[in-house]
Amino acid sequence: MSETPKYAVMGNPVNHSKSPLIHSLFAKQCGITLEYRAIHVDEGRFESAVRQFRAIGGKGLNITVPFKMEAWQLADRRSARAELAGAVNTLKFLDSGKIYGENTDGPGMVQDIAVNLGKSVKEASVLVIGAGGAVRGVLGPLLEAEPAIVHIANRTAAKAHELAAVFSGFGPCTASGLDEIRSASYDIVINGTAASLQGEVPDLPASIFAEDALAYDMMYGSEPTAFLVWADENGAANCSDGIGMLVEQAAESFQIWHGVRPQTAAVIQQLR
Ligand code: ATR
Repeated sequence: MSETPKYAVMGNPVNHSKSPLIHSLFAKQCGITLEYRAIHVDEGRFESAVRQFRAIGGKGLNITVPFKMEAWQLADRRSARAELAGAVNTLKFLDSGKIYGENTDGPGMVQDIAVNLGKSVKEASVLVIGAGGAVRGVLGPLLEAEPAIVHIANRTAAKAHELAAVFSGFGPCTASGLDEIRSASYDIVINGTAASLQGEVPDLPASIFAEDALAYDMMYGSEPTAFLVWADENGAANCSDGIGMLVEQAAESFQIWHGVRPQTAAVIQQLR
């Protein structure tokens, strides 16, 4: 058996994951030797796949769709942030035999918006569209950045209200259906729906962007997402997809495993 520490991303689908490239670039930059691959896992086989990976010398895993909630359940210990997110994207196998679970999506997104894109979240009015697992995963860190308000709007209003009830203790957080979006101007509009995957745009009023607003899609693709095309046509001053978030969440995971946070700018540049 090779002595090289083994890491991987597990998901379904996972073939096109950029995580192996990102982690190998980080490792090179930091002078760390590791092996990182993408592992396709069939539904219902997640827990056994994790145990098998650990048995062959695995040290840690990134977890992507659709296994983040199963990873949360599998973790013996979780950070407070992961606890609240209800989902885990990073597992670290501890020497004690326990599994530690963290969610780095939220800090990754906030770092990308606030640092890479230079859009201050503090005191900003933020509209988050969607109320699924992806949104739940980022709300805690978003509220920690002290925005003036986070309004969650979802096609199914009840799910937005449920999330706002969970997170309103952590900062100003309101909710509605898409058709009831109240304020006509947000500094940051984040699309956390799965609509981009289907090339669709959530049904939104055209006047949601404040002057100098940032439209941010947590998704990414080889072309601008339908939401970003729509945002550009409807007054968003700046538009960004989720490539920076992907690299930043990877950097946070890398730090959890290796104790050092890699530089991200050149890696984001390379992926673009
Ligand atoms: P994920 O883990 O990616 O968040 P999810 O939990 O299934 O996936 O949530 C998908 C989110 O995208 C939901 O907020 C969903 O809205 P509903 O709760 O009303 O289903 C939203 N969504 C998916 N397709 C959409 C579309 N075409 N327009 C608007 N919202 C959409």
